[in-house]
Amino acid sequence: MGTKLLCLFLTSAFIAYYIYTPIPEDIEEPWKVMFVSASFRALGHLAEVMDQLGLMHYMEVLTLLASADYVAPTSDENVTVMDTEFSNVAVRLYLPRRAYDGLRRAVLFFHGGGWCLGQAGMKSYDHLTRWTSNMLNAVVVSVNYRLAPKYHFPTQFEDVYSVTKFFLQSSVLSQYGVDPDRVCVAGDSAGGNLAAAVAQQLLEDSEVKTKLRAQALIYPALQSLDLNLPSYQENENKPILSKSLTVKFWSEYFTSDSSLREAMALNRHVPVEYSHLFQFVNWSNLLPAELKKGHVYASPTFGSPELAQKYPGFLDPRAAPLLVSDDRLRGLPLTYVLTCEHDVLRDDGAMYVERLRAVGIPVTHEHAKDAFHGAMTFVLGPAKLAVGQRLFNRYIEWLNENL
Ligand SMILES: *[C@@H]1O[C@H](CO)[C@@H](O)[C@H](O)[C@H]1NC(C)=O
Ligand SMILES: *[C@@H]1O[C@H](CO)[C@@H](O)[C@H](O)[C@H]1NC(C)=O
Repeated sequence: MGTKLLCLFLTSAFIAYYIYTPIPEDIEEPWKVMFVSASFRALGHLAEVMDQLGLMHYMEVLTLLASADYVAPTSDENVTVMDTEFSNVAVRLYLPRRAYDGLRRAVLFFHGGGWCLGQAGMKSYDHLTRWTSNMLNAVVVSVNYRLAPKYHFPTQFEDVYSVTKFFLQSSVLSQYGVDPDRVCVAGDSAGGNLAAAVAQQLLEDSEVKTKLRAQALIYPALQSLDLNLPSYQENENKPILSKSLTVKFWSEYFTSDSSLREAMALNRHVPVEYSHLFQFVNWSNLLPAELKKGHVYASPTFGSPELAQKYPGFLDPRAAPLLVSDDRLRGLPLTYVLTCEHDVLRDDGAMYVERLRAVGIPVTHEHAKDAFHGAMTFVLGPAKLAVGQRLFNRYIEWLNENL
């Protein structure tokens, strides 16, 4: 009996220890966030074990687990939903059903998941895009771009870019009853990265006549040059995106070769030949004082030239939109950026805001002090969070006023 009790006590203590993570004081519903965070951590550990045992690649385990969250395209009274292909890339389309005289707005949406995970048909994304379509009376194209580890950069970018180019043709816009002056790109996390990269590339593409009206970047990843920004230092283990997972996602975007991941984890992956790029992510100049806090800027540390030769993607602005010069930011459309205080990617977004404003782009910067990475995807079921709904409503309000 004594042994059983002891086992029970030790197991409970272990579970409590495992689940318990200090949640920042200003985060609402801390217990729910703690359980959400522990579930993500547990899935990560499971994936790690399977990977170490050589049974499955880390990201494949997570993909398999995430597939439980899939919903088939289902129309409702407001929106017709269908899976189809644009320019040979899978997309999920949301077409408003309400009768409407004029031309509609459109949102090209790119989901998050570190370029490795996620899809338009995940319950939370399906819900967000369906509501976007319903509330804005807009055509929404949610892109199922191909993912790592099977496909690496630039496939993800090229998929969303070719869908965007296809959709922006005047014949296609008119087929869907879309106003060419009211189209935007939007995305969260890795999807925000893709949206920012697409908006930049369109400026240089003489084949595309239609201009974007806006870009909406929800806690976007915008660079992997410096993975030791103040936000990385402060939020290394915050829900639901740790620094180590961020490094995994970034390196996996370019290659499954673990040497890039290891170098990125040490922030020693950029060779000295590319030192000039650090001016574009110099947080000493680009962050406001309230985000710099007490952090002291140190000069970059450099790595061997081999990685950059083998995997030049991490120096490519199509993967890291912060790495372009000011000239290439001019001409970008009206911009919405959401950053969360408790997010490793916070400073990427904040630096982009600073750089865009410096060249005269109108930017709305929503900084959520009480939120963490991915908060907007918790808008359904038992994991629904008030902060997620609030951030989503804010984003929709902005689109409604500006698109
Ligand atoms: C349809 O739209 C109305 C008004 O926005 C909303 O109240 C209703 O819940 C929507 N129906 C579905 C199935 O989402
Ligand atoms: C970053 O900015 C600081 C302050 O302006 C400056 O001293 C430093 O040389 C810059 N570093 C790089 C790599 O641009």
